Amino acid sequence: MSDTIKVVICSGTACYVMGASDILLLEEELPASLRERVQIEGCTCLGYCKDSGRGKAPFVEIDGVVMSSATLPKVIARIRELADA
Ligand code: FES
Repeated sequence: MSDTIKVVICSGTACYVMGASDILLLEEELPASLRERVQIEGCTCLGYCKDSGRGKAPFVEIDGVVMSSATLPKVIARIRELADA
């Protein structure tokens, strides 16, 4: 795994209305020690909202692994796990 943790926040309509707007504050909410390790991107619909087997919006990809029902605290917790690994 590279040192940089890549986070892709879906900001398509389904994800946005289900809470992705909060997750887009990630950069501001990350502690400075983690901020420099994380590359954050927003994107249009990742397509997961059209597949009921994927769980519920909002969706975030963290190092290529999709998280459903994502929240800002869940995303930060996962980033901490990866940063400590
Ligand atoms: S709007 Fe986010 S996966 Fe479709």
